[in-house]
Amino acid sequence: MEKNIVVIKGDGIGPEVTDQSVKVLNVIAQRFNHTFHYTYSLLGADAIDKTGSPLPAETVDACLESDAILFGAIGHPKYDNDPNAKVRPEQGLLGLRKALKLYANIRPVTPYPALHFLSPVKSKLLEGTDMVIYRELTGGIYFGKKELSEDGNSASDECVYSASEITRIGKLAFEAARSRRKKLTLVDKANVLETSRLWRKVIQQMASEYPDVAVDYMFVDNAAMQLIINPKQFDVILTENMFGDILSDEASVLSGSLGMLPSASVGERTALFEPIHGSYPQAAGKDIANPVGSILSAALLLEYLGLKDEAKLVQEAVLWTLENKFVTKDIDPINFYFTSTIGDLVCDYISNNIPGVLHSDNIVLRKSTII
Ligand code: IPM
Ligand code: MG
Repeated sequence: MEKNIVVIKGDGIGPEVTDQSVKVLNVIAQRFNHTFHYTYSLLGADAIDKTGSPLPAETVDACLESDAILFGAIGHPKYDNDPNAKVRPEQGLLGLRKALKLYANIRPVTPYPALHFLSPVKSKLLEGTDMVIYRELTGGIYFGKKELSEDGNSASDECVYSASEITRIGKLAFEAARSRRKKLTLVDKANVLETSRLWRKVIQQMASEYPDVAVDYMFVDNAAMQLIINPKQFDVILTENMFGDILSDEASVLSGSLGMLPSASVGERTALFEPIHGSYPQAAGKDIANPVGSILSAALLLEYLGLKDEAKLVQEAVLWTLENKFVTKDIDPINFYFTSTIGDLVCDYISNNIPGVLHSDNIVLRKSTII
């Protein structure tokens, strides 16, 4: 198979984690006889520095022409603390989501038994947890009219949803539930917000077309608590843009580290794959960031291209690294491996370069020097 992939490394740790995923895609291509062509494009603070715009037109064009997009991370502290900044890196990602009509952001949350000890949630609550969050990505308060009064003393962000925006992601979420444990939870704030009442109405109507799927409705404040006290009750969570942003970060603690979770953004055009973590500027360039979220995003990309065995092998390789305690500093601050070493180990596993018996001494030179 021959495919064109746009790679956007982005800001902060984006480049170093994305490099590992490209290495992984390359060994997959080698092992399974595929050809992946990469186009490198700019987005975010990196794009502002180089072109003045957070989303250069060439990036949109390249993405529209490609088969899939692999994205790293976005954001830079110099913009975070400047409320007057006219351009912001995040505008690049939001603009790209809109341009590509990526209306559904899919975030699977899988706690790994090898990492249960890291989660602030007790192991016995984590066992059996396996959920996926369907977050609406191109509507709601993120994209509503934004206003700041002339005197600068009042501001507003409008939240708008149409029934058709809810139906199109609703379909994907119902289909996903059908292929999983057949449960869908709509998370909203229908006791307060008009938009949430519309979400409820539309999903209630759709529910009759999916009689095999059990649907329940939960207010977002309660959902935030239920995610921690009883996470295994969830199968598919469907929610609007901002609730999904917040709840998916919260849910990531179930897996032990924000660095572990991948995501897929799909819509009417080319799909985009990115870890859910941010640009983590404090770690940038240090080779210590966790590349697993990005590598698992590459696995989702392979699955999307129809390469199921390839995707499975990448996921298996990641599991193997975790089970053998080949982990980055966020997981084990003392006995940790570098970002690039984890990438190499995943590649070694995929290309069958792992000896039957592991001698961690053999890998010791690639390991942290502090032990
Ligand atoms: C995410 C991020 C983005 C969002 C930011 C970087 C704009 O937090 O993908 O979850 O809020 O959607
Ligand atoms: Mg977020």
